[in-house]
Amino acid sequence: MVRAALLTTVGAPLELTEIELPEPGPGRVRVKLAAAGVCHSDLSLATGLLRTPTPVVLGHEGAGTVVAVGEGVRSVRVGDPVVLNWAPACGHCHLCELGEPWLCERAADAYGEPYGTLADGTALYPGLGVAAFAEETVVSERALLPLPAGVPLTSAALLGCAVLTGYGAVHNAARVRAGESVVVFGLGGVGLAVLQAARIAGAGPIIAVDVSPQKEELARRHGATEFLLADDQISKSVRKLTEGHGADQAFECVGRGSTIRAAWSTTRRGGRTTVVGIGGKDDLVSFSALELFHFARTLSACVYGNSDPAQDVPLLAEHVRAGRLDLEALITDRITLDEIPAAFERMRAGQGGRSLVVF
Ligand code: APR
Ligand code: ZN
Ligand code: ZN
Repeated sequence: MVRAALLTTVGAPLELTEIELPEPGPGRVRVKLAAAGVCHSDLSLATGLLRTPTPVVLGHEGAGTVVAVGEGVRSVRVGDPVVLNWAPACGHCHLCELGEPWLCERAADAYGEPYGTLADGTALYPGLGVAAFAEETVVSERALLPLPAGVPLTSAALLGCAVLTGYGAVHNAARVRAGESVVVFGLGGVGLAVLQAARIAGAGPIIAVDVSPQKEELARRHGATEFLLADDQISKSVRKLTEGHGADQAFECVGRGSTIRAAWSTTRRGGRTTVVGIGGKDDLVSFSALELFHFARTLSACVYGNSDPAQDVPLLAEHVRAGRLDLEALITDRITLDEIPAAFERMRAGQGGRSLVVF
């Protein structure tokens, strides 16, 4: 039995409970978690904005140590430190073969497969295939990334979602170049990672936007050169900071139609908006056909930062070792499993950066 934060049903509060995990079957691996980050997607799954079967153990941003391996597992051994990947690519489907493993048709296969049980025998699902809000988890071998040298195991958890997503959005999806102006909407773990990635790209100015004034200091620490409160004058304010043009690149890290529209409106003619946040199915974004033509802007979404984690995690580690990427700065609260509901509350209130469960 291991301790876990359980979501029994959508909309219910998380409960600390004991769960039963089987010994890993063929191709599967049991991992003892060292740390797990709390991402807004966990909150969205808990409230039903995003769908998941229940009962479920959420948490998809984790790192830990291999404690048991199933038959046929070759890539890791007991004792290996690993980062968990919530979108493991199969390598063989149409989109994997096109070289877009972040869109793998089988990436979500594990989400709907029970991986353990409650004490009474009820089948239990792994949140986004990872289930990091528990002392241990059992995942497919494909969902493991070796921990790169020089990155502490606890902060490496953040590589598994916020940092891979934020860095990839800037470098893989938007391909930000030195000297481009960047505006970032939403300064949680994901948006702060985008700011750091924009700094690494040599962008400037880097304009951070949030509804919460408390985010200013945090944003500046992550590379923002300007901070603006989100209001209905935002595109005017961004134009002022970009010599009247509008931003070359915008990033939406909130997950709402209205902020996608606002981000799009802050870009220059021909500018690009990269949507990183995940919104609801009834939340629409609108612009007129004439606007679309007149501004000739690009609007696209990215998934997991359009990353190939096997290539990008080692690259991120290089940035960490060189002091360009600061994982520790993203972590504003170190918490225990039973404090995840309070971390959700801080998110709702627009407080802090990443909360990290440390086991
Ligand atoms: N305009 C600007 N910022 C906003 C707005 C708004 N209208 N509404 C909320 N925010 C800010 C919040 O104040 C907070 O700082 O967006 C930030 C969101 O941060 P978190 O809740 O910590 O979310 P995070 O984990 O960073 O995820 C961001 O990416 O992966 C997706 O599902 C995730 O959609 C979510 C997004
Ligand atoms: Zn996430
Ligand atoms: Zn695939």
